[in-house]
Amino acid sequence: MIPFVDLKAQYHSIKGEIDSAIQNILESSQFILGKEVAAFEDDFAAYCQARYAIGVNSGTSALHLALLAAGIGPGDEVITVSMTFVATVAAIIYSGAKPVFIDVDPLSYCMDPGKIEAAITKQTKAIMPVHLYGQMADMDPILEIAKRHNLLVIEDAAQAHGAEYKGRRAGSLGDLGCYSFYPGKNLGAYGEGGAVVTNNPEYNRTIRMLRDWGAENKYQHVLKGYNYRMEGMQGAILRVKLRHLESWTEARRAHARQYNQALANSGVKTPEEMPYARHVYHVYAVRTGRRAELQQALQAQGIQNGIHYPFPVHLMPAYSDLGYKQSDFPHSEQAANEVLSLPIYAELTKDQIQDVSRAIRESAI
Ligand SMILES: Cc1ncc(COP(=O)(O)O)c(C=O)c1O
Repeated sequence: MIPFVDLKAQYHSIKGEIDSAIQNILESSQFILGKEVAAFEDDFAAYCQARYAIGVNSGTSALHLALLAAGIGPGDEVITVSMTFVATVAAIIYSGAKPVFIDVDPLSYCMDPGKIEAAITKQTKAIMPVHLYGQMADMDPILEIAKRHNLLVIEDAAQAHGAEYKGRRAGSLGDLGCYSFYPGKNLGAYGEGGAVVTNNPEYNRTIRMLRDWGAENKYQHVLKGYNYRMEGMQGAILRVKLRHLESWTEARRAHARQYNQALANSGVKTPEEMPYARHVYHVYAVRTGRRAELQQALQAQGIQNGIHYPFPVHLMPAYSDLGYKQSDFPHSEQAANEVLSLPIYAELTKDQIQDVSRAIRESAI
């Protein structure tokens, strides 16, 4: 059996450090925010090449607060993609704004900058690219268009810890960047977690208030806020894990290279690392027109796999009120029908990658 993710193997590789970090939180009893969260925020901001990081209780909360801090609300439109996890779109709706979809580039699966300008209206306030699978969207043209039209850029970097665009880290290029620390992410908490990163001191101040009931100081509520605080335990755990993230990322990248070689001319299309990118392979997705058969063949050999994501958001019943229909975004829809995610994590062995690749070759897809 080859699992799709193996969080236990990762825990055992850093057990001593994690156990003592948890022990320290129990002794200090700083269960909500506190010193460890503050220290993690400093470390994570530096890692992202940003001035500030604000820890919150999920990636969804990070997106919601980034939108609110940017002043986005009812009557506004935010341009994003349908080829994403549903949270991107849900957060825009939480803010009161309307999500407006555009199609993705068929190679990177990220926002196609060439489609942005046609979607801009008087109501457009922001562009929200999603750095899908661990590879950043083509940021230069996105930033250029945003500047020309006076729009904000909020990066959904939930899958892109350590990903780079021409040497610059995810989340630090736009006005705000949003991360998730869901356990299976490249940097995962042992529970829920998220962060907003920004270089803007006003956004930093506003998000710090909004995550903690809008209070500047205890009981001085200057904004209508939320209970979106990061837990002390998660801050302490993330701080330990952040020290290992670069070596885990390099392992993922080496695994991707091995898969790419082993799957060359196998009938499935391997992922593209764009010339501008450092891809961190949160997801290693191959593509095939015969996905159901390939899934069956892998499952028969005990090789777990996944689909990220089988339905683009514009075709989900929950969002039918946005008024989109089949064929509106052909690249997103075709990708949703053809992508298949293979196991990828630092602890995966070369032999396991060979086994997965052999199973794909032998499936004669
Ligand atoms: C692209 C994307 N955006 C947002 C989120 C939301 O993050 P969370 O699950 O931490 O709320 C996720 C992950 O789950 C994601 O993959």
